[in-house]
Amino acid sequence: MADYDDNKIDTPFTLFNNETGKSFEIPVIKGTDGPDVLDIRKLYQDTGLFTYDPGFTSTASCDSSITYIDGKNGILRHRGYDINDLASKSDFLEVCYLLLHGDLPSSEDKRKFNEVISTHTMLHEQLVNLYRGFRRDAHPMAIMVGVVGALSAFYHDSTDFSDINQRMIACHRLIAKIPTIGAMAYKYSVGQPFVYPKNNLSYAENFLYMTFSVPTENFEISPKIVKAMDRFFILHADHEQNASTSTVRLAGSSGANPFACIAAGIASLWGPAHGGANEAVIKMLEEIGSVENIPIYIKKAKDNEDPFRLMGFGHRVYKNYDPRASVMKESAHEVLKELNKLDDPLFQLALELEKIALNDNYFIEKKLFPNVDFYSGIILKALGFPTSMFTVLFAIGRTVGWISQWKEMIEDPINKIGRPRQLYKGHNSREYQLESTREKKSIFKWLWK
Ligand code: CMC
Repeated sequence: MADYDDNKIDTPFTLFNNETGKSFEIPVIKGTDGPDVLDIRKLYQDTGLFTYDPGFTSTASCDSSITYIDGKNGILRHRGYDINDLASKSDFLEVCYLLLHGDLPSSEDKRKFNEVISTHTMLHEQLVNLYRGFRRDAHPMAIMVGVVGALSAFYHDSTDFSDINQRMIACHRLIAKIPTIGAMAYKYSVGQPFVYPKNNLSYAENFLYMTFSVPTENFEISPKIVKAMDRFFILHADHEQNASTSTVRLAGSSGANPFACIAAGIASLWGPAHGGANEAVIKMLEEIGSVENIPIYIKKAKDNEDPFRLMGFGHRVYKNYDPRASVMKESAHEVLKELNKLDDPLFQLALELEKIALNDNYFIEKKLFPNVDFYSGIILKALGFPTSMFTVLFAIGRTVGWISQWKEMIEDPINKIGRPRQLYKGHNSREYQLESTREKKSIFKWLWK
């Protein structure tokens, strides 16, 4: 049982074991902001006990100075800067610099950083052949996992991350090449020729150019659309120790090379509870179809027996409006206005669904608000991306966050291989059964029916 004195947060917790009469003190560590943490590193050594926390709902897996989230108050800051300021005043490459290096760049730093990133935008030509090995109908996220993992087979001069120069080149390569990789995944799926990067374009414009231009026509795009794409990347740049970032850190903790680690992060992002939610939102809105059907789906979402959830709603950390969602909603307005699509039926449906859910007791009591994915799919669809590309776009924006978190971990002197423990609930030791005496309850019987 823990003793806790509210007024003396520096006082360690004391665990007392009634059976043995022994006690154990747990030091409390303060962060710059957010909850203090119990330092249980010596818990097992001194008490023989593990802690149990499936889904890591109460566990800080590392210390970090990159991103801070206050879920109760809907605050997101990168290196101390509010996401709203970054989304309205910075461009994406500035945010990349900030996440990687800890501060916003001077104009000279910015010029050099942009130059470095633009020199790494092309892919090794042999890597381009790898795309042709995929089926045309492969999900672009499957291609992303494969191609990003394969980067380590092509860039041997940046896999020794104990060397700071190689480490930085790997970071720059990943930030620079990920839009090219994503755009090529799209081009491959639609059967159009790959478009090589053009380094006089901005990061976001270059990506749109590689995705939507064709050799037969001039490519022109409105600066407002470019700005919306750039802002989309900013809003996805990092988000503390979420599933994919933790995956990158866990993979990296074993000493795996950065390209393999980011491929692992992409795989984790793919799931519908994480990065796949923006795709799921559009599917859900299309399924709902019209405003009259909203109550049916709200009812389904509230039914414990029904697995249906309102996609784009709720968040592990935010128990308030996700600050990214409000910027995204504003951006959706701007993009649709620019494209003369303000009456877009899915957007109108989303606005109505949000209004109804935010006034429903179930959502109010459980503190379920729209998250970043609720409006992002509407923007991406309006821009012409197929839903299968939505998570790819998330991955492009998030790559800088993953690689910054990976770099922070590698440079942390107390970096240890990640090795969670478990609560074992299987058989105790039992005698080996010879085949002739085994029960004939083969699990394959039903598989092979
Ligand atoms: N619709 C209906 N009920 C919900 C929803 C939802 N979208 N989200 C949570 N709940 C309910 C949930 O059933 C649970 O109810 P009860 O207490 O009766 O069991 C309660 O709210 C708490 O939910 P939880 O599952 O404990 O919350 P979590 O922190 O484990 O899950 C989540 C967070 C994001 C996985 C979940 O809210 C969800 O599945 N949302 C829909 C998918 C989605 O939009 N994901 C994108 C997340 S944001 C992008 C990112 O950062 O990756």
